[in-house]
Amino acid sequence: MEEVHVACPRCGNLLDVAYAWDKARVPRSLREFEAKWADRANPHYFSGVWRFYELLPFAPPELCVTVGEGQTLLHASEGVARYVGLRPGRLFLQYEGMNPSGSFKDNGMSAAFTHARMTGATRAACASTGNTSASLALYCSATRLMKAVIFVGSGKIAYGKLSQALDYGALTVQIAGDFDDAMARVQEVSKRLGIYLVNSLNPFRLEGQKTIMYRVLEGLRWEVPDWIVVPGGNLGNSSAFGKAFIELSQLGLIPRMPRLAVINATGANTLYRLVEHEGLRWNGGAPCQDLIRKFYAEMDAQHRRAHTIASAIEINRPVNLPKCLRALEACRGVVRQVSDQEILDAKAQVGAGGLGCEPASAASVAGTKLLVSEGIIGPDERVVCVLTGHQLKDPDATVAYHTTDQELFNKVLGSRGVRRAAFANRAVAVANDLDEIIKAIHLYS
Ligand code: F0G
Repeated sequence: MEEVHVACPRCGNLLDVAYAWDKARVPRSLREFEAKWADRANPHYFSGVWRFYELLPFAPPELCVTVGEGQTLLHASEGVARYVGLRPGRLFLQYEGMNPSGSFKDNGMSAAFTHARMTGATRAACASTGNTSASLALYCSATRLMKAVIFVGSGKIAYGKLSQALDYGALTVQIAGDFDDAMARVQEVSKRLGIYLVNSLNPFRLEGQKTIMYRVLEGLRWEVPDWIVVPGGNLGNSSAFGKAFIELSQLGLIPRMPRLAVINATGANTLYRLVEHEGLRWNGGAPCQDLIRKFYAEMDAQHRRAHTIASAIEINRPVNLPKCLRALEACRGVVRQVSDQEILDAKAQVGAGGLGCEPASAASVAGTKLLVSEGIIGPDERVVCVLTGHQLKDPDATVAYHTTDQELFNKVLGSRGVRRAAFANRAVAVANDLDEIIKAIHLYS
């Protein structure tokens, strides 16, 4: 494999993909992409990533890897709109749970995997809270192009995700530590052993994730929404979304920028604290390193570890922090934090609306509710919440929320400070007796 750098050897900052647009074939209007809808027999036109090839033209087309990612949906949800305080028709859910591995990660993985192939890699690695590893494992097993090596924290990964990595045959390394520990180790190991790293510090991951925003625009018939709201963990998505809109604006393909809201869990709120309390900004590409260093030194001194039911975003050292600051600057962004209670209540509302999601995803809906209550988002504004992962990723959290078993509730959720399940849909226990069953149905329906 060729040597691959994800960061500048001199300053240590992560690399960014920049295109010579003047030499590329850029469409004159986003509508040009619609012609590809008609040709689903072409795997690259079927892919919700490579359909937008002209906006991420880093690889020769014949090398672009696809497993059918990005066949996702923008769904207008009246129920969730009412819950967050928006007028009917103003709240949209970008449902990334429909991806082959059940989360948005497949968008970025198809791109990073393609780049790995370009370098001649035979092994690819990641640290993960579960979804990146499920996605990498799937690409490896479906294409047979590489072997997957995944690093996960002990007891920190939802079973739906772990089951995927195991089933797809990935070499699964469980570190005695959390995601932040696994992230540090995977960088050392991949460097030492020359394994291709696919975490979102790899800039090609972000190229693939830009396409989520192209599909949002497509779903809105190429109109720009007022707000994009996204959960924040390692901050790959928010960074990618900002880059997508910056490029589209520079290319003259959109008339204005949307605003961006990044939502942390209260128990993993590095971005929120740094931006909203400490005033950290992009600052023309030179965010205050002292501020960041001081923040992490204090975090270590106090032994603060990330802790939230939204295990996908249980991250205290987001690797894409600077790129996310650029996105916040370009999109006049805001950052908020929401509690595990707010996340689970929002998740139940999303589920009741028909598109189930995992806890981390529901942070976007809980964050929107908060921003509407603060008057930052107006009730008539058009808002897109990104639902990053499928409901089946973390069935334990869902069952514990809806259960009648207080012990189970306390074990799974009580330990996270969740006190009530306001929107629980409780199973009805009934004797194995026809009359009793019919009585129960009359009573409860
Ligand atoms: N939502 C889900 C379902 C995720 O799996 C993740 C990240 C995020 C949100 C946060 O996205 O990192 O782009 O800010 N999961 C990673 C993983 C860290 O390993 O699967 P981000």
